[in-house]
Amino acid sequence: MAVRRIAILGSTGSVGRNALRVIEALGPEYEVYALTANSRVELLAEQVRRFEPAYAAVTDRTCAGQLRDQVAGFKTEVLAGAASLEEIASLDDVDIVLMAVVGAAGLPAVLAAARSGKRIAVANKEPLVVAGELLMQEAAEGGAEVIPVDSEHSAIFQAMQAGRRQDVSKIVLTTSGGPFRGFSRADLEDVTAAQALAHPTWAMGPKITIDSATMMNKALEVIEARWLFDASVEQIEVVVHPESIVHSLVEFVDGSMIAHLGRPDMCIPIQYALTYPARANGLGKRLSLGEIGRLTFEKPDMEVFRALRLGFEVARTGGTAAAVFNAANEAAVGEFLAGRIKFVNIVELIERCLDSHSVRARVGLEELLEADAWARREVAGVACR
Ligand SMILES: NC(=O)c1ccc[n+]([C@@H]2O[C@H](COP(=O)([O-])OP(=O)(O)OC[C@H]3O[C@@H](n4cnc5c(N)ncnc54)[C@H](OP(=O)(O)O)[C@@H]3O)[C@@H](O)[C@H]2O)c1
Repeated sequence: MAVRRIAILGSTGSVGRNALRVIEALGPEYEVYALTANSRVELLAEQVRRFEPAYAAVTDRTCAGQLRDQVAGFKTEVLAGAASLEEIASLDDVDIVLMAVVGAAGLPAVLAAARSGKRIAVANKEPLVVAGELLMQEAAEGGAEVIPVDSEHSAIFQAMQAGRRQDVSKIVLTTSGGPFRGFSRADLEDVTAAQALAHPTWAMGPKITIDSATMMNKALEVIEARWLFDASVEQIEVVVHPESIVHSLVEFVDGSMIAHLGRPDMCIPIQYALTYPARANGLGKRLSLGEIGRLTFEKPDMEVFRALRLGFEVARTGGTAAAVFNAANEAAVGEFLAGRIKFVNIVELIERCLDSHSVRARVGLEELLEADAWARREVAGVACR
């Protein structure tokens, strides 16, 4: 088999670091060709010294000199600035682009990968939320393959292979419910960042962990699923499953439900997106259903976790609404982690932005980015008061 060259955009993050472990375990058929980070130079330099990729990039230009110093003597070419991600995503020698950047910042690079006809292993859900329709269109035109890495969407992608696409009647996304499952609205008033960062089943980066606590993560995933699988909002359902063993399900028209089960371990969906349609022995640990004993499911409480209700509404509205929804959340999570707002203010700020935004339908990239920038300014304005 020919060697598959992989660019990991966001290699210093939680998904990126797991991806490097997966690639190392897969052996010489998979080569780390490019690595990128925003500003964590020490870690990126360590990865460069270990994997010796052809390229390494930092989006924060002020870190470039430090990175060059730290990898002097290695063959790796160092790039800098946000545009370096697009450059890497379009390199002829790259076969697979693993999108592991956090936030809408990954959008230009994922679009570049789509236009360049790459396999895109996409963990970075925010670009799909902001510009999913455009991205899937560019991928189809550019001959790119979009393979989900998000565990729920990987599960759906795998379950869909049990039947024909036109025979799918429903997509059921599971959620652990996060650290505040069972809380009332009053209980959420005084929760701390430390509590919100303590996810019961998954170890992830800080932004997605806060999103899991507000259930904004599931709201973003509803929109992500809508575009990835060309599904209507009415076909998508969310169910709480605290054990995080069933990663999602697909219902077919005959009433059969096909589920994907596994341990809550990102190495499995990351590896599948790289090896698809083949499967390989890897790092994924085996599941013992006998030891687990019981799997439980319940309906989500969309009154307490209003973000989820908003997610369905935004998915129905379309246009610039999802760009505002996502950007307001990114900005509000940043404010919460910086200690400037309370946990409950995150969703309040998102709602406020959606209420004061005039949605524009059938828009291009420019209008989506404008809506994104507007929402970030709105949140910053309120949080500064
Ligand atoms: N973590 C999970 O298990 C998981 C599961 C499913 C989906 N996802 C999705 O995967 C994505 C990554 O999540 P994560 O938890 O791995 O995030 P993370 O741990 O915060 O890592 C984010 C990565 O993106 C880089 N980055 C940050 N800001 C950037 C910018 N403005 N431009 C370019 N690169 C930037 C970071 O570089 P520095 O290290 O230099 O800051 C880091 O390499 C998210 O979209 C998340 O929703 C994650």
